Amino acid sequence: MMKRISRLLVGCLMISASMSAQTLYHEVYRPQIHFSPQANWMNDPNGMVYYQGTWHLFFQYYPGAMHWGPMHWGHATSKDLVHWQQQPVALYPDSLGFIFSGSAVVDPHNTSGFGKAGQVPLVAIFTQHDTSAAKALTHTFQNQSIAYSLDSGRTWIKYADNPVLKNPGIDDFRDPKVMWYAPGKEWIMTLAAHDRVLFYASPDLKNWEKAGEFDATRGAHGGVWECPDLFLLDDHGKSVWVLVVNINPGGPNGGSATQYFTGTFNGHSFTPSDTLVKWLDFGPDEYAGVTWSGAGDKRIMLGWMSNWVYANQVPTSPWRSANTLPRLLSLQHINGISYVCSMPIKALDTLVTATNTIGSIKDSQYKLAGDIPAPYMLHIHTNRLASFSLTCSNDQGEKVVIGFDKQTNRYYLNRAQSGNTGFSPAFGGTFYAPRIATSPSTDIYVYADASSFELFADGGLTVMTGLVFPQKPYNHLAVSQDGNKVIQSLTLSKLKSIWE
Ligand code: FRU
Repeated sequence: MMKRISRLLVGCLMISASMSAQTLYHEVYRPQIHFSPQANWMNDPNGMVYYQGTWHLFFQYYPGAMHWGPMHWGHATSKDLVHWQQQPVALYPDSLGFIFSGSAVVDPHNTSGFGKAGQVPLVAIFTQHDTSAAKALTHTFQNQSIAYSLDSGRTWIKYADNPVLKNPGIDDFRDPKVMWYAPGKEWIMTLAAHDRVLFYASPDLKNWEKAGEFDATRGAHGGVWECPDLFLLDDHGKSVWVLVVNINPGGPNGGSATQYFTGTFNGHSFTPSDTLVKWLDFGPDEYAGVTWSGAGDKRIMLGWMSNWVYANQVPTSPWRSANTLPRLLSLQHINGISYVCSMPIKALDTLVTATNTIGSIKDSQYKLAGDIPAPYMLHIHTNRLASFSLTCSNDQGEKVVIGFDKQTNRYYLNRAQSGNTGFSPAFGGTFYAPRIATSPSTDIYVYADASSFELFADGGLTVMTGLVFPQKPYNHLAVSQDGNKVIQSLTLSKLKSIWE
């Protein structure tokens, strides 16, 4: 009898396992070219580090529900930054608090002493958020802790003397991003502290001294500064420092967004090269964007594809939130100002299954033949600056319009009638981004997934990310242009799912 019951149980388990294998990653709205967790809540990408051929992605994760809660570090790995395997949870909350955002570094010279017998440790540096101390209004409830891995990031051991950096009395004191600063032969931590960025220095990742701060008068200040990043970008052989500061709210289209500064850094202070407010992504749905460490000169950024205004309400299940596409960063100069450009990484080209190029378009309206469901990538080239747009729609009359408006010199993404927009009054509407490029030709790349669009214009000078939740997938594609032959070429590349 017992045997029969247990066999029945195993049978049931097998059925549910095979059912979930069939449905997992095929759910309505499930991103097909972006990482999302199998189930439950995710926010910021954390601790992104490249080590021995593997790209590690950790992320703010609540494995208990589809809304924000006690934060863990989830973990996923990839060999190409395109295909991902979700791994067991890397860090669990403990008596010091939830595990908030942070970074991870390879410690090749074992400055931390965590490596034994020649082992190279990976060290994670993160904020611990103590909820009871927060409730008691202590002002010291966010502190920085570390953990190390001696098995290439698979498992993590928390340091016994955590926290390694205690809060001096600042409510928002979090999201440490650590890098090796070669000129000073020391580690530098860039930390968000409410309306400014603080720099700390350490010889061993365990002892930290304040080195300087980036003053609170620069940049956008419509909200709290979070998730900073500091790194060098190559500028034709000479290097430029980039300081990324995420901000919530106060983004250019409302809610959370990623701003940045270009300038110089001397181990203590960062001096911006201009007074402009600059954004890595103008769309409503890129946040907490930071870059991978351990990848040499290559700077690859990943953002969380959502917005705190409605992140907890978006109508997906059994998971909530995905990341943006990984983006390779580079510099461009326009009228003497340095701008950081972001373009999708080349490895995404391996997903292309078919390409259809349509030459110059004569009529002001043109509909592409056949059913064109996401995921796909569309490339539009024009060498004449006139207004044009792309409409993705379905038979329900739902649509997303992405385009360029010559009169205001802006790109836009209109999702007012994109489908399910009712979960937040801030979701529907049109979102704008300035055209920064001054050249008369424009190239735009649009990556469409089941529930998102990403627009990369002018070599990544202007980028916009937006979520969408149509009742039925958009399957029609049409373009319109203000004149004839504005669009000189249009290339549609169908993409296959990364979960296949
Ligand atoms: C940014 C953020 C971080 C914090 C984390 C908590 O989205 O608020 O500042 O560490 O999320 O989940």
